[in-house]
Amino acid sequence: MVRYRPYTTVVLAMSADGKIADVTRSPARFGSKSDKAHLENRIAAADAVLFGAGTLRAYGTTLTVTNPQLLQNRIQGGKPLQPVHIVTTEAANLNPEIRFFQQPIQRWLLTTSTGAVFWQKRPEFEQIMVFETEEGKIDVAAALEHLSKLGIAQLAILGGGELVASMLELDLIDELWLTICPLILGGATAPTPVEGKGFLPQLAPRLQLIEVDRVDQEVFLHYRIVSVI
Ligand SMILES: NC(=O)c1ccc[n+]([C@@H]2O[C@H](COP(=O)([O-])OP(=O)(O)OC[C@H]3O[C@@H](n4cnc5c(N)ncnc54)[C@H](OP(=O)(O)O)[C@@H]3O)[C@@H](O)[C@H]2O)c1
Repeated sequence: MVRYRPYTTVVLAMSADGKIADVTRSPARFGSKSDKAHLENRIAAADAVLFGAGTLRAYGTTLTVTNPQLLQNRIQGGKPLQPVHIVTTEAANLNPEIRFFQQPIQRWLLTTSTGAVFWQKRPEFEQIMVFETEEGKIDVAAALEHLSKLGIAQLAILGGGELVASMLELDLIDELWLTICPLILGGATAPTPVEGKGFLPQLAPRLQLIEVDRVDQEVFLHYRIVSVI
């Protein structure tokens, strides 16, 4: 059965030693202004962005499009000013007081039936999507199919490593943008772009490098996934 789903692009910044945050999992603010502009560009090109609860808990906010030219482009393209911001979490144990819930965006929640209970009668999320596997985990593939039916064609995946790993394992990622930033964070438990159980080399997703940009001290790598064995 062919399952339709949005085209998915992961966008992450990492240290030169491959960490997306330090060992205390503080919000990753080590990218330059160029990296922030790059991220804003990717967000402006998306119909929706998806991130894990760990990412939301770390930042307390999400990045919105503020560049006037990007906003203009969205208007001309007949799109809402901001893409939809979708957070995924099984438990949905999020603090309703965080600034994310005041940001001028559409917020959707992708969760389990248990996770939905607290938020169902509250105003914070415009949509609550429950897609569960038989094991009570979130059925990300079914959720993406649903997003596609709602007109979400381009989906930016903004991390973190757990969400990216779960989607890579299911062959649900099409492209990656990785920014290599000039610092070393180290730390065995500091998060990386792909967490999860990991892949053995024979089974590892293979990438095609489609673009490399250097801006000052940062390198922007653009990959396409060519095969998940
Ligand atoms: N450098 C960068 O570009 C960048 C970008 C984003 C984040 N970060 C950093 O990354 C760290 C967070 O990464 P992370 O790996 O801990 O977190 P994450 O993937 O953002 O969040 C993990 C949590 O998200 C939910 N989740 C993720 N995948 C799921 C799935 N397939 N199904 C259901 N729920 C899922 C679960 O929430 P529940 O436990 O609530 O069920 C899980 O515990 C932070 O330190 C942040 O600063 C860096």
